[in-house]
Amino acid sequence: MNSIEIINLEKKFGAHNYNPLPVVLSRGKGIYLWDVEGKKYYDFLSAYSAVNQGHCHPKIINSLSTQSKNLTLTSRAFHNDILGKYERFVTKLFNYDKLLPMNTGVEGGETAVKLARKWGYLRKKIPTNKAEIIFVNGNFWGRTLAAISSSDDPVSYTNFGPYMPGYINIPYNNLNSLEEIFKKNKNICAFMVEPIQGEAGVIVPDDGYLSGVRYLCSKYNILFIADEVQTGIGRTGKMLATDYENAKPDILILGKALSGGVLPVSAVLADDEIMMCIKPGEHGSTFGGNPLSCVVAQTALEVIIDEKLPENAFRMGQIFRDKLFKIDSPFIKDVRGKGLLNAIEIVSENNAAWEICLKLMERGLLAKPTHGNIIRFAPPLVINEAEMLECTSIIIETILSYKY
Ligand SMILES: Cc1ncc(COP(=O)(O)O)c(C=O)c1O
Repeated sequence: MNSIEIINLEKKFGAHNYNPLPVVLSRGKGIYLWDVEGKKYYDFLSAYSAVNQGHCHPKIINSLSTQSKNLTLTSRAFHNDILGKYERFVTKLFNYDKLLPMNTGVEGGETAVKLARKWGYLRKKIPTNKAEIIFVNGNFWGRTLAAISSSDDPVSYTNFGPYMPGYINIPYNNLNSLEEIFKKNKNICAFMVEPIQGEAGVIVPDDGYLSGVRYLCSKYNILFIADEVQTGIGRTGKMLATDYENAKPDILILGKALSGGVLPVSAVLADDEIMMCIKPGEHGSTFGGNPLSCVVAQTALEVIIDEKLPENAFRMGQIFRDKLFKIDSPFIKDVRGKGLLNAIEIVSENNAAWEICLKLMERGLLAKPTHGNIIRFAPPLVINEAEMLECTSIIIETILSYKY
């Protein structure tokens, strides 16, 4: 079947809950993808930052393949011989007492919210069912009812109500609003935030915001939950985006690149005072902590460390922004990002971002608009300097030749 036939098949038999670029991919290696007609592309999305280690990394695939012949799933009704070793590895790496394994990013978020509420009742003595969690405008942490209840994006929440109570939204990147609400409300158990907002369009907060959040959460005895599902695992040029300000969260949520894009693997990390609030039977998942996922995730993290991918992301991100800052076009409103999580914002009445992405696709580079006229650029972290220079040329030429 050719691309058109495959796209039509999806259209006819699949729910229309996505609007993909019209490209059908059948192979990936490192920073490259190939479509069914054999055309090669640079991947500048990395499956929304899940493929930081590059497509089909041989070490990760080797772990997947070896473990898949031994044991894939036991459920947590029994122990398996991998989970504990994986938990020790990850908790040592990120410096927490304990890890709770889940599968998708949004399940990680749900787990963090449940943990925070439980801690609020057991430790902070918040009256029953009165716990509140603070979120920020523009947040995105997935598509479940708990996640969309905190969203201020009508596309996410309209006609899916009623919504989860106990949430309060405040502006992002605003420590005064945060302190004001912390002072006013004694029932707040947690503040949950992305260190850089990904889906909102790569919104980078001011320097000092994350350390300010850390300070205020400690001052008011409120848990700082960092959603590093998109920013974590090297993407922003450090292992965690919160590392830039030594702002260690009380609860850390990881997902996406935790498995190198091979399997859905997420994790929630916290110290005993928080994690031990949840007792057997109170939370879990059939697939969470399965030996196949644990082996894959450990290898995926080892690749990040061994190949110094955060350092490479830092350097390549600087090259990307240096080049794009120099674009002389009245239609480019902003170029922003950290490490290899970057975006450009276009000023145009038309569907310019979408059309530019179609032109980029023709030239062999895949990127996707997010939130109107913003294009996110997030290649796998294994990209080298020569490749980055070629890609920035493709992007700049495409943007400059577009008729706005
Ligand atoms: C910051 C953040 N949190 C959570 C999620 C949800 O992850 P998943 O799609 O694996 O549920 C996403 C997905 O884009 C995300 O960007």
